[in-house]
Amino acid sequence: MPTKERMLITGGNPLEGEVRVSGGKNTAVAVIPATLLCDEPCTIENLPDIADVHALVDILRALGAKVDYVPNMFMTVDPRPAEGWQVSYRDSQRLRASYYLLGALLGRRQQAEVYLPGGCAIGSRPIDQHLKGFAALGAEVEQLGGRIVARAPELIGSDVFFDVVTVGGTINVMLAAAKARGTTIIYNAAKEPHIVDLANFLNSMGAKIKGAGTDVIRIRGMQYLHKANYAVIPDQIETGTLMIAAAATHGDVVINGCIPTHMEALSAKLLEMGVRVTDSDDAIRVRSNGVHRAVNIKTQVYPGFPTDLQQPMSALLTTAKGTSIVQETIYESRLKHLDEIRRMGAQVRVMDRTAIIEGVTDLYGAPITATDLRAGAALVVAGLMAKGVTEIYEPHYIDRGYEHIEDKLRSLGAVISREKGE
Ligand code: EPU
Repeated sequence: MPTKERMLITGGNPLEGEVRVSGGKNTAVAVIPATLLCDEPCTIENLPDIADVHALVDILRALGAKVDYVPNMFMTVDPRPAEGWQVSYRDSQRLRASYYLLGALLGRRQQAEVYLPGGCAIGSRPIDQHLKGFAALGAEVEQLGGRIVARAPELIGSDVFFDVVTVGGTINVMLAAAKARGTTIIYNAAKEPHIVDLANFLNSMGAKIKGAGTDVIRIRGMQYLHKANYAVIPDQIETGTLMIAAAATHGDVVINGCIPTHMEALSAKLLEMGVRVTDSDDAIRVRSNGVHRAVNIKTQVYPGFPTDLQQPMSALLTTAKGTSIVQETIYESRLKHLDEIRRMGAQVRVMDRTAIIEGVTDLYGAPITATDLRAGAALVVAGLMAKGVTEIYEPHYIDRGYEHIEDKLRSLGAVISREKGE
């Protein structure tokens, strides 16, 4: 019988030492499509070596761009030969962020065709606000046979009011508006660090974007964007996952190369649990040697507690003393990882979007299955805490967003390996 790929973790070893965080996934997947807006070649550094970045390289090449990519070194994109404006079904499905090709291609070619995106199954994830934004800029947007087709004789800057705060919608409208005629103002914009990073990248090419990081962003469209060299910011969610893993194993870890101010919501919760968190300019040290106290979590848009850290954090809470209440307000089905951790001895009740977690003293290794990227990270945290061996099936989800996760954890003393399937 063929074997399935699995990650194996022998838990119970405190993580100790120093580790460097990689470049941000959610900023990389916006910045790479943004190179299509440039009228000259661009070089991007500090990109994480993850599956989503590899998928975008293939997509840019399929559109005709010339891409030189040396993982962990640089990516140079010469968009000038890119004549394409259609992304295939297969490529669109490879990652959620394929929808940024809509904004980038509309800006570049005034037309774009992308299939509804893939990505993690954590809720219904509509993109109506993105499409409403394109329509406000003058695009005709149609949904046909699973594809979004958008066309505009000319994109014209306009006011865009979002009904919900959306990271993807804010980024997509920024991309299209960067080359529109006139000024676009986005109201009720998302404020996540990767929105600021994308604005900084576009501005480094000569775009005129103000207000990124606040809820009103002004974009003056430019006809010509010039070449730029840019390094993306460190990954906020990888940083947070490593912080949680350090606490979960009662370890002592210094995470280098991060931006501590991006981590304030998590740091505050860890401190409330009794974990020691100290930071300097670009490093955070997390230490823990006592019993953790239960805390309540409610996910919110930035700078609130990020939904992407809810899953690893709720894994940590399964062994905190007392009752923790976790409310997931962004996605309707982002608590599935707790069903798996229950197999390891966790005591959890899930009602709709709320989990009530009664802390237990120990988790025990078991075979469990990752159902999405951050669910996978949560299972890794559970495996690191558990007594005995945890087998995580479908670990490919984790590779979508964490660069060389086993190597990083092993360098801190974790006993973790991967068995390839046949
Ligand atoms: N929403 C709508 N209509 C829209 C867009 C969003 O109703 O047109 C709703 C969504 O259903 C959701 C909420 O608004 O309930 C927020 O969605 P948002 O658009 O902000 O999320 P996203 O852009 O699809 C990005 C990240 C996610 C992260 C969220 C929230 C990327 C590629 N993805 O998704 O990252 O969870 O923002 O911070 O940047 C992950 O990294 O694991 C991940 C899922």
